Amino acid sequence: MERKDQCILISGESGAGKTEATKKILQYYAVTCPASQQVETVKDRLLQSNPVLEAFGNAKTLRNDNSSRFGKYMDVQFDYRGAPVGGHILNYLLEKSRVVHQNHGERNFHIFYQLLEGGEEDLLRRLGLEKSPQQYHYLVKGQCARVSSINDKNDWKIVRRALTIISFNDSEVEDLLSIVASVLHLGNVQFAADEQGNAQVTTENQIKYLARLLAVEGSVLRDSLIHKKIIAKGEELISPLNLEQAAYARDALAKAIYGRTFSWLVNKVNKSLAYKEGEFPGWRSTTVLGLLDIYGFEVFQHNSFEQFCINYCNEKLQQLFIELTLKSEQEEYESEGIAWEPVQYFNNKIICDLVEEKFKGIISILDEECLRPGDATDTTFLEKLEETVKNHPHFLTHKLADQKTRKSLGREEFRLLHYAGEVTYSVAGFLDKNNDLLFRNLKETMCNSENPIINQCFDRTELTDKKRPETAATQFKNSLSKLMEILMSKEPSYIRCIKPNDAKQADRFDEVLIRHQVKYLGLMENLRVRRAGFAYRRKYEVFLQRYKSLCPETWPTWDGRPHDGVAVLVKHLGYKPEEYKMGRTKIFIRFPKTLFATEDALEVRKQSLATKMQATWRGFYRRKKFLHMKHSAITIQSWWRGTLGRRKAAKKKRAVETIRRFIKGFIYRNYPRCPENEYFLDYIRFSFLMNLKRNLPKNVLDKSWPTPPPSLCEASQLLRQLCMQNMVWSYCKRISPEWKQQLEQKVIASEIFKGKKDNYPQSVPRLFINTRLGNEEINAKVLQALENEAIKYAVPVIKYDRKGYKARARQLLLTQNAVVIVEESKIKQRIDYANLTGISVSSLSDNLFVLHVHCEDNKQKGDVVLQSDHVIETLTKTAMRADKVNNVNINQGSIKFTVGQGKEGIIDFISGSELLIAKAKNGHLTVVAPRLNSR
Ligand SMILES: Nc1ncnc2c1ncn2[C@@H]1O[C@H](COP(=O)(O)OP(=O)(O)OP(=O)(O)O)[C@@H](O)[C@H]1O
Ligand SMILES: [Mg+2]
Repeated sequence: MERKDQCILISGESGAGKTEATKKILQYYAVTCPASQQVETVKDRLLQSNPVLEAFGNAKTLRNDNSSRFGKYMDVQFDYRGAPVGGHILNYLLEKSRVVHQNHGERNFHIFYQLLEGGEEDLLRRLGLEKSPQQYHYLVKGQCARVSSINDKNDWKIVRRALTIISFNDSEVEDLLSIVASVLHLGNVQFAADEQGNAQVTTENQIKYLARLLAVEGSVLRDSLIHKKIIAKGEELISPLNLEQAAYARDALAKAIYGRTFSWLVNKVNKSLAYKEGEFPGWRSTTVLGLLDIYGFEVFQHNSFEQFCINYCNEKLQQLFIELTLKSEQEEYESEGIAWEPVQYFNNKIICDLVEEKFKGIISILDEECLRPGDATDTTFLEKLEETVKNHPHFLTHKLADQKTRKSLGREEFRLLHYAGEVTYSVAGFLDKNNDLLFRNLKETMCNSENPIINQCFDRTELTDKKRPETAATQFKNSLSKLMEILMSKEPSYIRCIKPNDAKQADRFDEVLIRHQVKYLGLMENLRVRRAGFAYRRKYEVFLQRYKSLCPETWPTWDGRPHDGVAVLVKHLGYKPEEYKMGRTKIFIRFPKTLFATEDALEVRKQSLATKMQATWRGFYRRKKFLHMKHSAITIQSWWRGTLGRRKAAKKKRAVETIRRFIKGFIYRNYPRCPENEYFLDYIRFSFLMNLKRNLPKNVLDKSWPTPPPSLCEASQLLRQLCMQNMVWSYCKRISPEWKQQLEQKVIASEIFKGKKDNYPQSVPRLFINTRLGNEEINAKVLQALENEAIKYAVPVIKYDRKGYKARARQLLLTQNAVVIVEESKIKQRIDYANLTGISVSSLSDNLFVLHVHCEDNKQKGDVVLQSDHVIETLTKTAMRADKVNNVNINQGSIKFTVGQGKEGIIDFISGSELLIAKAKNGHLTVVAPRLNSR
């Protein structure tokens, strides 16, 4: 939260649990960090780098079945949210000697056994390997290739999978395993001496495999294993090696190959872990968490250069711990002006100096022996040591020891009194291991390898570089000093691992052993300082910043000095005087519980603030959103208004043009067609036609027709005719036969009566009926008398007697051939159509008519005076039936008729107010017909 780089120093002796703790920490971050796809990948790679590096860098020792044989400092980079985005590993001095030799009960690096146990048959065949570790000299030095507590087969699967995750492709895996296999083959290369004592290779087969796996020339490899190239007086000389030298060269090559491949592997892991800007853009400022897991302090029966380095490393770490906790803590109280009773502790700086001091330190002396000309040996080194550091309280040799101690020290040994205990080192091999030399011709051979990994590991520039490389111990010393700098630059936390027993057993708590560790780790002193001192301290600024929200005076800002702000704050919080001290730049809080209570209060406060902030934020967010939306709406509106405005303007412009053209056209409308009026004329035509289309007459009687413009008069006329024809035609097509008949009758009626008889107009809207009497209304006898003659029309009429003009009800029947007058069951008169000479009616509104009959016919009684309520209908039908349409006379004034035998009767018609039919005094029949309103 404070954006400070952190580091966690994990210390403890071998097997105490440092590596396990490292893994737990990584797992913790993997589980708790915010998740995302990219973070998943980084997390996986961080986690999976462990099994790979452990396979190549860890081994079973007497102290630990999975002992780290290299030092590891891992940086995990976090982004601002606390998600891992990358990582980097620094590795420290791998115990290479293990490749060629293991003490009894120990193993080589895990990878060899894993490969043999787990590798598929195909793979092993390609690598020329057999499944059994017993076959390989390098694997059986400790005589415990197989251990029940280790499942190599399973571990192989884990490693193989992990390799893929940290982005090894198949060919890289094959190259890497070829190297692992080549080390095993190299171990099996044997020599025999010829007569001159020169070494010869006796295992050609191994050379063959080796050459293939390392991708080098077989004969060159063989030669370089049994010869050495030296440059004397500017000339290159080749000298054969004796048996011992050849074995040394072989082992040196094996160590070099393995050691450099290990460094290559770390590099490769780093590439896959590297924080990639592309994947996490914009989070350049990452915060780092460093995890240091190094080989723990170890003591064996036989301790050599490796243990010397490892234990020196642990001294350095202990020194750092002391520096950062015991020493600086107490110094801090002093510098802050806090009253303090110093706590005594053992400072191991003296041992560190013994090892690393310039000129006088063990490493300096070792280097000197390695570099000096002449016959330097491990023994001369020991002598030099005795000479230089003989009075050092932490250094002893056989010679320097007193009588009693001397017994426990060999002549080839020296003893260091480490902070964690005494360790006796055998000087044998110190010079060689420190020199770490590889014969030049072997280096050359490796530089020519076509295995890409070997090729990267052996750089040609090494061959031409005249400068002597730094010795192993110096390199290690320098890298440790860099490590200390890295650690000091970060905020440290510590994990002190304590080993519960020496037997690698669960649930066994060896009190003596633990007491010893607690003591040498300085934990008691630590506790004492902690207890006497203050559990917590913080710079005033930082403290105020964190807790200012707990006090109204300091929240949200404190304007004065942070020191005063903190004073106000703790007073408000109710700190008691014994609970805290105010230093020069920091506040010191004595008890954890005080701090915890404050933290609890902060938590509560944070929650309430968070709730408030959420509300504020929500309000703010809503308002922001609202403003944004409002702004958007306005933008859209203005655009739309603009668009509308432009459209309207364009429309107006068009309208103005149209109007102008119209006016112009109107002015020129009577001119012949010309540009000025063509639009107008076309428009007029068009609009006439469109108007016509909308207003065509609906039926034949509709005589409306729009007025055409002058240019369309003729067309209009033609159209009008067409339209009429069309309507007529479609009307005619539509009418039924009955209606046609009706109309024909109506037409005839019109021809006869129209404009001639007053009551004609009244008849027009009334339909003519087929017949006004059904057969049931006509007497059966009459029907019988008429026999086959079908009655076409029947209507009740009134007959006026010829003499007295008495009115009598009769029926008038029209048959095919005659008009028949019927009274009840009697046929009173039958007038064949041929005998019907004419029909007379008045022009007035009465219903009287006279049927004139041929007088010569004796059977006839004379003309008949009748009255029908449907006179127009009756007469039309009669005229039509009798084919006497042209014989209907419409008379003004009076009608004459014959009454038989030459006698004549007269009917006078006059108009009056109401109908009256009566015999007048003059013997005429007088008919007063009512005047109708309109004709
Ligand atoms: N917290 C633990 N709980 C149970 N067993 C543990 C714990 N820590 C370590 N061990 C056991 O102890 C063994 C050794 O632990 P680890 O490898 O972490 O030791 P180390 O301190 O790294 O030793 P070295 O210095 O040799 O590398 C583990 O393989 C495991 O079996
Ligand atoms: Mg370890």
